[in-house]
Amino acid sequence: MDTRLGIWAAAIAALQLAVIPPLFAQSGDPLAVGRKMLIEDNPGELWIDQGQALFYEKRGPKKVSLEQCDFGMGPGKLEGAAARLPRYFADTDRVEDLETRLLTCMTRLQGFDRNELVKTAISAPASKGSDIEALALFITSRSNGMKVNVSLNHQKEYEMYKAGEYLFYRRSGQTDFGCVQCHGEPGKRIRLQDLVHMTSKAGTQEVSSTWPAYRGSHYVVRTMQWRLNDCVWQMRLPDLKYATEYSIALTTFLNRQGNDAVIQVPGFKR
Ligand code: HEC
Repeated sequence: MDTRLGIWAAAIAALQLAVIPPLFAQSGDPLAVGRKMLIEDNPGELWIDQGQALFYEKRGPKKVSLEQCDFGMGPGKLEGAAARLPRYFADTDRVEDLETRLLTCMTRLQGFDRNELVKTAISAPASKGSDIEALALFITSRSNGMKVNVSLNHQKEYEMYKAGEYLFYRRSGQTDFGCVQCHGEPGKRIRLQDLVHMTSKAGTQEVSSTWPAYRGSHYVVRTMQWRLNDCVWQMRLPDLKYATEYSIALTTFLNRQGNDAVIQVPGFKR
């Protein structure tokens, strides 16, 4: 493990040990203060610089930077771009979320192999993280302080949103689980983990404004693709293929529902 991360890991472990017991006595949410302390000093910040360096570096078989990548506001224009994702892109004739768009640019502009990128997109816990994780965080951080503003004006955006809504409520698989069963009511928990209530505006706003997020228990930055993959695993469905329509649809639905939330990344998650 990178020593810098090792130090963070040790610091976080120490914090958790130091903070939890007295809090148990005082509040209904024993982890609240520890969480707040970590947000104020979020290790995920380290990934922003890493992502920025990757963005401007000439990389890939074609040896170009990502400055010509259009995230919807024009080539290289990142301010406010992530706030409007997912959205329709004419050059691919499809709706893309942030990570799908990154794959488009890294393959088309830089010449990377899509399969190779996908294989390494989600990093191992306690690793240095993947290029895509760092890039996704850097790009989203350029919308910090701005409001989520997902539009459904294009027919394909609207269809993607409706597909996401359908999937959110649909029960499927051997456990017959739907997202709504874990995320459809306030105050639900699995063990100590609060389940975000996503049929409320506040809940979807929490989702739309805090990803990519630093995941304390993994010591790396995680993206929305990872989060959905993890929930799909909890539902015992087949593995979610990275950057495919299922996750783009759910992200379109959740982000649109979470419009007007002020973006602040990296979020901090358990
Ligand atoms: C079996 C229960 C369960 C189901 C079903 C489930 N999730 Fe989750 N979800 C969780 C848990 C547990 C967490 C993480 C909570 C934590 O770590 O604090 C989570 C977290 C999330 C988050 C991150 C919330 C945040 O912190 O911003 C999103 C987004 C999410 N789920 C979406 C979905 C979607 C979409 C589906 C359906 C495809 C789904 N979940 C199905 C249990 C579930």
